[in-house]
Order: sequence, then structure tokens, then C-alpha cells
Amino acid sequence: MRIDGKTRLLCLIGDPVEHSLSPMMHNLSFEELGLNYVYMAFRVTKERLETVVEGFRAIGVKGFNVTTPLKRDIVVFLDKLDPRAAKIGVVNTVLNDHGEFIGFNTDGVGVVKALEDRDLKLDGLSIVLLGAGSAGRAIAYALSEIPCRLTILNRTAEKAKSLAEELSDGLAEVSWKQLTIDSLTECVPRADILINATSVGMKPKDAETPVPKRLLRKELIVFDIVYNPLETRLLKEAREVGATTLDGLEMLLHQGIEAFKIWFNLEPPVGLLKKAIEEVRRRRLGCR
Ligand code: ATR
Repeated sequence: MRIDGKTRLLCLIGDPVEHSLSPMMHNLSFEELGLNYVYMAFRVTKERLETVVEGFRAIGVKGFNVTTPLKRDIVVFLDKLDPRAAKIGVVNTVLNDHGEFIGFNTDGVGVVKALEDRDLKLDGLSIVLLGAGSAGRAIAYALSEIPCRLTILNRTAEKAKSLAEELSDGLAEVSWKQLTIDSLTECVPRADILINATSVGMKPKDAETPVPKRLLRKELIVFDIVYNPLETRLLKEAREVGATTLDGLEMLLHQGIEAFKIWFNLEPPVGLLKKAIEEVRRRRLGCR
């Protein structure tokens, strides 16, 4: 990578960011496509967010990604939101459009694209989504644009209910329930796809799983967006019963591809990115 006087900056802000794979992915794309940009990761706390965004305006960054814990807080510092991000209330990608900072959310689309990338046609399928937090909302909105049957289960029933109500005008047939062992027992055995967008199973609570193994079966497709650990207990048990599994790196890859398209109006080198992510997966699972 050659940095010169014309190199422009893109970055990730959040806390923590040290282990993010976004710099690797986007810099690989810049190099491959000969784009004079560099992507860095900066640890930014909530208290500094406003100052940081002002700084980005001053130096004219091309755009940036936003991760935990800033995805909701960023909204008030932007000039405009893409309609979907406005509804979700959560932003993970910002484009500097000639000085106007526009917020987008590519997390949900990332999940849908990752599923479609497995040659899955989601129309008519029954999808159970666990979680109605930031990630759950983004995924639910993306799924609501597909004529599928979506059931949202969340520990706090009120959040599942209001999210389902928000989605009533979409193409999906949406229902909701409180996330309990009874609702899991009722919904999971009938589902084609199970998506975990709760934090259950994430380190340091990686001994936990949101769904008992006895409810999993070979025909189920299980997507866990948690990526620390990469193979959660849920995914391990899904693999053991012969189910198809998708992990957090799949979402990371596809949300990154969508962000790249927003910034550059260009297709990134998807094959190359997939190879790089596969290499990361191999290394991480190798040292389980
Ligand atoms: P994120 O940005 O990762 O989506 P979030 O917005 O805090 O984080 O959402 C976390 C999700 O995990 C929520 O759906 C949360 O359920 P509540 O809405 O009831 O808080 C879910 N979650 C966290 N811990 C959980 C647990 N022990 N059991 C079930 N769900 C849990």
C-alpha cells in the first residue's frame, strides 16, 4: 500500500476495535482495485464521539463504520439517514457525500446476503429470529422486505412486540413471542432458519446457548451473528446434529461488502475477500 498526499481516509470507530477485521478487508479491496484510500480503526468512547465526528468533517474522511457501543449514539451527529437506518435507529456505515454525513445500516442486509450467498431462496421460508436489540432490529427490517414468515423472539416481550408492529407493512408475515423455553420449543422445530441476534453465547458467557440442542435438527439452517467465539455453543451443537451453520464472519463479510458499495458505488473484489475471511476462519477454528 502506498500512502501519498492524496490518500483519503475511511475508518471504524467503536470500543473495542483492536480485533476488527474491517481494516484488513477494506484495505485489501483498495489495493486490489487501485483505490487511493486507507482504512484504519480508532477506539472511540461515547464521550468523545461528537468531537471525533467534527474532526472527521474537518479532515474530510470519505466515510466510516460505527460499531458497539456507538451505533445508536452516532445518529444525532449525522446530517441525514437513509430511510431504512432511520427506521431501525441504528447506523453502522456513514458516507461523506460532499460534506453531508449520511447514515446507513448494512448489518441486516449483510445477514440476508450471507444467506442468499448459500443459494438459499428465502421466499416462503419460516425464519425464527432471536433478539430485538440493535442487531435484531436491523436483521428484522431486512427480512421484512422478503415474503417470508418471520417470528421474532425476545427476552423482553415488549421489544419483540413493538418491532413486529413496526414491520406490519412489509412483505414478510411477522409474529412475535417472548423468548422462553416454551416459545423456543414451539417455534424452532417448525423453522427453516434460526438466527441468533442475542448476545447469549458470547464470551465470557460462551458456555451458554440460547437454544437447547434437542430442538436443533439436520434440516435447520443456523446463523449465529456472535463472532467471539466464532464457533458458539449454538453453532457447535448445530454442527453436531448435521445442521447447516453460518457464523459471525459471514455477516461481517457481507455488511462490509454493502458498506463498500455505499462508499464507492463499486463492487469490491468479493472472491478475494471471501478467501481472506476463510483464511481467518481456518486459523481461528484451528486454535479452538
Ligand atoms: P446488540 O447491539 O448486540 O444487538 P443489544 O441492542 O444490547 O445489543 O441487544 C442485545 C440482545 O440480546 C437483546 O435482544 C437482549 O434481550 P433484551 O431485549 O431482553 O435485553 C438479548 N439478550 C441479552 N442477554 C440475554 C439473555 N441472557 N437471554 C436472552 N436474551 C438476551
